[in-house]
Amino acid sequence: MAKVFERAEIIRQEEIAPSIYSMLLKTKAAALAIPGQFISVYSNDEAHLLPRPISICEIFPEKEQLRIVYRIAGEGTKEFSRYKSGDSVKILGPLGNGYNLLNREALIIGGGIGIPPMLGLAKEIHGPKTMVLGYRSSDTFLLDSFKGLGDIYIASDDGSVGIKGTVIDAIENAALKPEVIYACGPMPMLKAVKAYAGERDILCYLSLEERMACGIGACLGCITKSTSIDNHSKVRNKRICTEGPVFDAREVAL
Ligand code: FES
Repeated sequence: MAKVFERAEIIRQEEIAPSIYSMLLKTKAAALAIPGQFISVYSNDEAHLLPRPISICEIFPEKEQLRIVYRIAGEGTKEFSRYKSGDSVKILGPLGNGYNLLNREALIIGGGIGIPPMLGLAKEIHGPKTMVLGYRSSDTFLLDSFKGLGDIYIASDDGSVGIKGTVIDAIENAALKPEVIYACGPMPMLKAVKAYAGERDILCYLSLEERMACGIGACLGCITKSTSIDNHSKVRNKRICTEGPVFDAREVAL
């Protein structure tokens, strides 16, 4: 798939919740990206050789802009958080497969730092859709951006916003009956969504991007078990960063 490797200008960066940053980039990758893909962001400090994979939150192809939203998780992302408007950063992307957009009653589930890519997805799905968002507490980053796109249900760990519980609790509480599910979030949430969809025979796509490390196929830190044997390598393994990050839930053993 086409991608660019370039220095992208940072148009704007802001902290939208504690340790969670939104960065708007001017890049030619915007014309090539689809929801569910990610970019690799390289450190300007040569000591850090491996880039950090960061999911694409919103795509503005006509303006050649991409928005990424990330949580500080180490030295690399801490460095990114210090960048200001007018700085530039080396990026490679778009990477990964992205979501298969279907014109069916969609349920879009985002948990924690898995919420940002679901915004770009929700904007691109033009059929009926409902969003279920899971937060830790009352820091409901990006919630306003989802408003107007469809019905929104919220769950939070501490009950400070929406219902107290998991996204599955919110789905059951609202008695939702989707035809296709798209989900991104922490592994316990994805396991629960996979089980929920499997029990009801609902088509389900999961983004496993939280498990990625280098994002460019170099570290093998992102291997996940697949349910079938790969024709090429003859093993039950998939590299999330190159074969995913989005998988049909039936393809992966979580
Ligand atoms: Fe390094 Fe996939 S994240 S190989």
